[in-house]
Amino acid sequence: MFQPVIIAGGVGTRLWPLSREKYPKQFLTLTDSKHSLFQQTVLRLQGLPHASPLVICNEEHRFMTAEQLRQIDHTDTQILLEPEGRNTAPAIALAALKALEKGKDPILLVLAADHVIADIQAFHHAVEQAVALAKHNHLVTFGIVPTHPHTGYGYIKSGQAQQPYGYRVDSFVEKPTLELATHYLSTGEYYWNSGMFMFKASRYLEELKQYQCDIYSACKAAMRDQTPDLDFIRINQDAFAECPSNSIDYAVMEHTKHGLVVPLDAHWNDVGEFSALWDISQRDEQGNVIKGDVKALDTQNTLILNEDKLVATLGVQDLVIINTKDALLVAHQDHTQKVRDIAQHLQDEN
Ligand code: GDD
Ligand code: MG
Repeated sequence: MFQPVIIAGGVGTRLWPLSREKYPKQFLTLTDSKHSLFQQTVLRLQGLPHASPLVICNEEHRFMTAEQLRQIDHTDTQILLEPEGRNTAPAIALAALKALEKGKDPILLVLAADHVIADIQAFHHAVEQAVALAKHNHLVTFGIVPTHPHTGYGYIKSGQAQQPYGYRVDSFVEKPTLELATHYLSTGEYYWNSGMFMFKASRYLEELKQYQCDIYSACKAAMRDQTPDLDFIRINQDAFAECPSNSIDYAVMEHTKHGLVVPLDAHWNDVGEFSALWDISQRDEQGNVIKGDVKALDTQNTLILNEDKLVATLGVQDLVIINTKDALLVAHQDHTQKVRDIAQHLQDEN
């Protein structure tokens, strides 16, 4: 038995203009499934022995989160609200503190809310292995065999094999430079960090306290003074405002001496940018991925997602064209990693 914790407070700026601050990527139906990425994250747990999940999201998205849970009949899921995002280390700390309130020390399965996993059986298998390891006070990561030197992931160097399964984490490097990522790939000794974790609530908090005590203290203070609310768990806003921002990867995983990695071969994709969306979508004979009202003539290898008026293309290739009600993106496929810059520019201008 374990307690799923779904961290759903990210913004997903590399999928602008599909993903917006008010409507971030985890709540979108980006794949061929009728469910959003967040809903798929909850549904993917079916068949595993787990307690009701705890969702940590931004105050601003509370109704969308509750509504999406209602749509999949998960009204018993607890939702903890962050007044402002402080990245994943604090979000997971709040979840761990909440989980400890009942006097037990459950094993947490921390899940990002915006991933696609095609092979659910393989995912379940890896989770079952991780539970057994987390019981012995390890911090378990799920490692993906890397295919290219992506600089947006954490890189896990696997060490000695453990009994009955898994490997020691020899080192964990979050978002390395391209040079380092290329080197890691060439050694064949590294996994990508999938962004999912498993550990006892108390174990995570001990490590956080050791390596980034200011986050631990701020989260403890924020949880001390919760406001009762029928539908949501609300924390102390002023105390949380004092909390530094950092990810679990930098704050804990790069430092811990208790990390283990369980390989995960489940067709995982974090849909981090348009090229990833491209990888998981069905292409037509011209190599195009097209959704919405589109007329594409003499167009190849192009992703066109249209949510508004008719889009027509002629004699173009290798583009990403995203047309929403209030914004249009036209980009070359080689530049999709930089879409975040546009979202950043727009934010700076406002
Ligand atoms: N509640 C909450 N609050 N959730 C958050 C916050 C926050 O402030 N910030 C991010 N999240 C959620 C996102 O919604 C997502 O589900 C998850 O936490 C991971 O955040 P990302 O911002 O998407 O992280 P990343 O993709 O840059 O990096 C992480 O994932 C990679 C794999 O996709 C790291 O763990 C990398 O090491 C890993 O390789
Ligand atoms: Mg991500």
